[in-house]
This record gives sequence, structure tokens and C-alpha cells, in this order.
Amino acid sequence: MMRMVDLIIKKREGKTLSKEEIAFWINGYTKGEIPDYQTSAMCMAIVFQGMDEKEVTHLTACMEHSGQTLDLSRLKGIKVDKHSTGGVGDKTSLVLGPMVVACGATFAKLSGRGLGHTGGTLDKLEAIPSFDVHISGEQFIKQVNDIGIVLAGQTEALVPADKKMYALRDVTGTVESIPLIAASIMSKKLAAGTDTILLDVTVGSGAFMKDIVQAKALANLMVKIGQGLNRDTRAVISHMAEPLGLAIGNALEVKEAINALQGKGPEDLMELCYTCGAIILLQAKLATSIEQGRTKLEKVIADGSAFNLFVKMVIAQGGDPSFILKPEKFPLAKNIITIKAGKAGYIKSVNALEIGLAAMRLGGGRTTIEDSIDMAAGIVLTKKVGAKIKQNEVLAYVHTNKDLLAVSPIVDQVTNAFVISAHYVAKPQVILEIIGL
Ligand code: URA
Repeated sequence: MMRMVDLIIKKREGKTLSKEEIAFWINGYTKGEIPDYQTSAMCMAIVFQGMDEKEVTHLTACMEHSGQTLDLSRLKGIKVDKHSTGGVGDKTSLVLGPMVVACGATFAKLSGRGLGHTGGTLDKLEAIPSFDVHISGEQFIKQVNDIGIVLAGQTEALVPADKKMYALRDVTGTVESIPLIAASIMSKKLAAGTDTILLDVTVGSGAFMKDIVQAKALANLMVKIGQGLNRDTRAVISHMAEPLGLAIGNALEVKEAINALQGKGPEDLMELCYTCGAIILLQAKLATSIEQGRTKLEKVIADGSAFNLFVKMVIAQGGDPSFILKPEKFPLAKNIITIKAGKAGYIKSVNALEIGLAAMRLGGGRTTIEDSIDMAAGIVLTKKVGAKIKQNEVLAYVHTNKDLLAVSPIVDQVTNAFVISAHYVAKPQVILEIIGL
């Protein structure tokens, strides 16, 4: 008879687990027959000993099938999905989804909430008055068939093994393991049932992966898992040392996404959306090259069709479209504090982690999943890495409903996130690598 303790010892000694052994663990854990403490010990053994590609693929498949999976076969078109490993100011899904749908793809996306210094797409969408992210399976299918796009919350029934395991890893020091992260992310993406998956693996202070070597290892592994399980999976590695775009905070980011859909987005955000969008169009067989995909995407921004799709999605999910047509309707925070440069020079870095933490402390994010959010709170940068600045030039605006005295340490945190150099600094590249083309 198989015993969990023997599997833990086997992994602790650096041996390879078989498909049957991984299934025994994950099925037993999901049903509550294997206790948390044994899964913690197994996760810690994996943190130290790792897993080979076959083991991670088995683990991912077992986790994927630990609950319901979505069957999107009734939906027309090639269903595409995109996932970011998280960042600060990352409103890509709001812009990219309508762009690729305007080019003919079907974007059926389940998104998450923000936690800690990173934001979540669901919270951003909820900044639009009465927008509903909790939609039923039937409505999900109907909306995708009607307009080709839906952005909804993950249902409880998908991948219960990950739900239990992620909460456990969070409190047992076992989050930082490339095989465990890869299986966690890919099991959820695979269970969501799209035909293609594009992963945006972010790297830098504001991301999960702090260095490029780790980011490449994670991206390569996830692409191999997806392809091993017959799903068209590609990845980009993108720069997250400074926030993406200029706005950080829920309503502020929606306004920036609206601007981007109207062709007035910040350069780095647009570059990421065009590159990811072109790869998605290749995956959906709607373009034969990255260049052709990009041209199609530029066209749907220029002719307003991507923006119109965003408006349609807001209406379909019960949101008030007047805020999208007139973004100045989004209420501003009661205090807007100006951050100025102490000296002239070039912006060398804008620490994304510090800016993300400051936005959270202003009320724009959560420290626990139950916290409520101040949709108007956040930070708007006016300068990014590489910009030449004069002394006293504005670097950022801090938006807050809190008292000025209470936010003074947060204002310092934003100020200190900027490093100014006397010497020329080049603008960083946004896309560092593409995997799986
Ligand atoms: N995101 C996930 O979904 N899972 C992890 O393990 C890490 C980041």
C-alpha cells in the first residue's frame, strides 16, 4: 500500500516521483485524506530537491483535474488566454483583451484579485460603477458568443488542490519553488479551458521573479508543461523593475487603459500590448507573423474598434458605460500630493515594489483578502526610467483620501522610490525575451 510518508522521504532524498505517486498525493490531499502537514513537508522537499519536467507535468495535470474544468468547446472561434505573473501598474488585460478580440480572437479570461503590492484585474474592473465580475457559467458562454470577450472572477470549483496548497505554501515558506509555481499557475490556466495560453513572466523588483535567470527558468518550464499537455503555450519575459505605464491604483489604471485603447497609452504599456497581442494573433491563426499581427492591432486601436469592444464588455457585465466615455466622471481622491525632484539629472530607477507597497498603503490594495479597497487611491508617475529632469520638476502625484499627516511616510516612500543619476540613463527594454515562437 502506498504511504504518503514514503513519498515525502523519496523526494527528500532527491528521487523522482512517479505519475501514480503524484496522483496519490494530490487526490488524497484534495479529498482531505492526506493532511496539511504532510503536504507541507512534501512542498518543502520539493523546494530543496526540485522536480524534473515529467514530474511537474504530472503534478500540473493532477492539480488541473482536482475539480471542475471549463469546457469552452461550445464557444465559437479560437479561445485565447493571457496570464501575467504579476506586477505593479499592470493593466495589460484591460487593453489587450479588446485589442485581440477586435482582430477576431475570442478572449474568455478568468482573472484574480490583487494581494500585497500587486494589483488584480478584478479589482480594477470593479472601479467601474456596477461592473459585475461574478457571472454565471451560462452568462459567461452567452457573452463570449455575443461579443467575444469576458473578464470574470475565478469560480471556486476550479483547481481546489491549488486553492488549498497555495494557502498552505503561503504560511510554510514554500512559495519560492519554480516547479510549484509553474504547476500552480499552469493548472489554473489549463482548467480554464482556452485553446491557447500566453504567459507574461515579469522580472524585477515589482515581480515574483527578481532576476532574469529565474524568470527564464519559470517561463521555459511553463511553456514545456503546456505543450506537453497539448495546449499551445508561449511566453514573454517582461521588465517589472519600474511600474508598467504611469498609473498605479484601480480607477487610475482603468483611466489609463481607456487612454491606451484610444491610442494615447504610455509607450511601455503599448509595447507590451502590441507584442503580446501579436503573439496571441499568431496563436489564434489570425496572423502569420508578429509584424502582420502588430499592424492589425495598430489598426484596431486607430479605428476605435478595440475601444468599442471595451465599452461593449462593460455594458454586457452591467457596468456604467458613461464612465468609459467620459473618464473624468471617475471620482478623484480628496488629496493629490505632488512629488518633486530634489535634484536635476536622469531617472535611474523607480522601484516598482516600493511604489506598489505605497499604493497599497494609500488604500489602493489589500493586506488580507478581506480588506476593502479605495478605488480612487494610487499614484500617477510623470517620469519614468531614462527621463531627463530638472530640479523641482514633478515626478509623481499621490492620490489619497487619507489625512495629509497620516500619509506623510507614504509620500516619503514614493519619493525614495526614485533614484536620480547625474549621468545619462537609457530607457529600459520592455520585452526581454519571447519563448516558444
Ligand atoms: N501565482 C500563482 O498562481 N501561484 C504561485 O505559486 C505563484 C504565483
